[in-house]
Amino acid sequence: MKVLAIETSCDETAAAVVEDGRKVLSSVVSSQARLHADFGGVVPEVASRAHLELLGPAVAEALGRAGVSSGDLDAVAATLGPGLVGSLLVGASAAKAYAWSWGLPFVGVNHMEGHLHAAFLEDPELSLPTVVLLVSGGHTMLICMQKAALGGVEYRLLGQTVDDAAGEAFDKVARFLGLGYPGGPAIERAAGSGRPDAIAFPRGLAGQGYDFSFSGLKTAVVRYMRANPGTPISDVAASFQEAVVDVLVAKTREAAREVSARAICIGGGVAANTALRTRVEQVCREDGRAAFIPSRAMCTDNAAMIGATAWYRLRTDGPTPLGTPVDPNLALPLV
Ligand code: KG4
Ligand code: ZN
Repeated sequence: MKVLAIETSCDETAAAVVEDGRKVLSSVVSSQARLHADFGGVVPEVASRAHLELLGPAVAEALGRAGVSSGDLDAVAATLGPGLVGSLLVGASAAKAYAWSWGLPFVGVNHMEGHLHAAFLEDPELSLPTVVLLVSGGHTMLICMQKAALGGVEYRLLGQTVDDAAGEAFDKVARFLGLGYPGGPAIERAAGSGRPDAIAFPRGLAGQGYDFSFSGLKTAVVRYMRANPGTPISDVAASFQEAVVDVLVAKTREAAREVSARAICIGGGVAANTALRTRVEQVCREDGRAAFIPSRAMCTDNAAMIGATAWYRLRTDGPTPLGTPVDPNLALPLV
């Protein structure tokens, strides 16, 4: 079964063709980062207009690279939420129109479920239960992916952020330090030449269950720079990154122990961070657990993960009615 999938929830215009939920025949991502960089963040109106221009060519390229035409497809999928409403509307409306005109079923996908399924694309043997640390610009969640009693997988929420998302903290601190947008890669680059132990920034909610808090850390960076203006930016970036990674990994490790997870998996844009990837691999090695670390391209937003999830959802729930609206706050179905 071949699915054409479209993802436009934020600032990446993406299209992909995925076969049987596992085999990526093509995955095209047109990043808009350059368009938003001057503003220091994603401008929703700029994003939806850019999706309008970039989506047609992205779909054509995805079909071309996969060597398929509309007649070879079995379904068309798109992200219905969560995300920016204008951006979601562009991708979802296009996917519904393609599905209707080609006489194919439409499948609406939850973006966060897409990030969870990204690991399956590269590790089809993923063993459950797996604890997934989902860290993006809008979300920070610790989820137990487990076998459902009636077959398939189900998601149990173990913890989430009580204020900023981890990616949001990277973006805000990068902006404050004048490192530009997107903040995660900028902080990672600056941290490369800095000392992670230079400044002891706070570890929010450390040792207090599985919820996360990053707003205190952001404030601590601002206060520190005001009191110590001569501090090398590289040391601040490295110490900030260390504080985030420390708390993410400590809580993920503890949760994996509690639920006797066979594996730990990471997903979402922040999972592209090398320090986080290295540390997760290290604790998994120490604890005798498998580590599923998707490629960087599969951690950040892409349509292949939407195609993988659509295949799974089509088998469990069937097609999504064309009248189903996008939902900027769409919640992950949890048990
Ligand atoms: O999943 P994603 O591509 O989009 C959302 O759904 O939010 O995540 C984007 C977030 C941004 O906050 C970005 O700064 C962060 O992921 N990010 C990183 C890195 N690459 C992207 N954070 C830390 N280190 C990175 N290398
Ligand atoms: Zn995302």
